[in-house]
Amino acid sequence: MKNYGNIADIRQEYTKSGLRENELPDDPLLLFSQWLQEAIDAKVDEPTAVTVGTVSPEGKPSTRTVLLKGLHDGKFVFYTNYESRKGKQLAQNPYISLSFVWHTLERQVHIEGIASKVTPEESDEYFRKRPYRSRVGARISPQSQPISSRMQLIRAFIKEAARWIGKEVERPDNWGGYAVVPTRIEFWQGRPNRLHDRFLYTLQLNGEWEISRLAP
Ligand SMILES: Cc1cc2nc3c(=O)[nH]c(=O)nc-3n(C[C@H](O)[C@H](O)[C@H](O)COP(=O)(O)O)c2cc1C
Repeated sequence: MKNYGNIADIRQEYTKSGLRENELPDDPLLLFSQWLQEAIDAKVDEPTAVTVGTVSPEGKPSTRTVLLKGLHDGKFVFYTNYESRKGKQLAQNPYISLSFVWHTLERQVHIEGIASKVTPEESDEYFRKRPYRSRVGARISPQSQPISSRMQLIRAFIKEAARWIGKEVERPDNWGGYAVVPTRIEFWQGRPNRLHDRFLYTLQLNGEWEISRLAP
């Protein structure tokens, strides 16, 4: 057997905190925003980083990391290229998963739901807040497509940057936000002896959330 590293003995006890049933709010978005704020306050690296899972038309899953840029009206918002691999998959199948993990706090949150594009106005509003160079980059990067070299990218960037000097860089039509409406949200808090706390919120037909404790 070829062994690429001795990792079997790496393990850690999770002792930082607990999640009690009687402290759970009815609205999981409230708990999520509290946990996110605690991750920001704890200065964890990239507290808004989230693993996004999408599914191909053949039913094959794929994941990648993006940054959460909005949490409003019960929706989770992130921005990307609509013609990227994830964008193409979401156009065919809007079911999506979002996984946050904050190792310092021994916490993770798994979300499942349905993604749809935010309005062009909402995408414009966020695009305008991005640094000039990121806006130029969004215009020239054919995200997820093969390219011949880094030089090709840099040439396209310089040419495009020159075109927009002194002007408001316009958002390209193929770049914008997705808003995820959650239907299932699970909170995980690490506990000693691998007896972790897991609480699952499931959206009911009447719009209310049902809470159940899951075995670790
Ligand atoms: C920390 C981190 C943050 C990222 N944030 C974004 C983001 O907000 N939007 C985005 O399109 N890609 C982001 N990426 C790049 C994606 O992970 C991915 O490479 C890209 O979106 C293409 O994915 P796809 O080919 O699966 O569509 C980020 C990567 C990392 C590591």
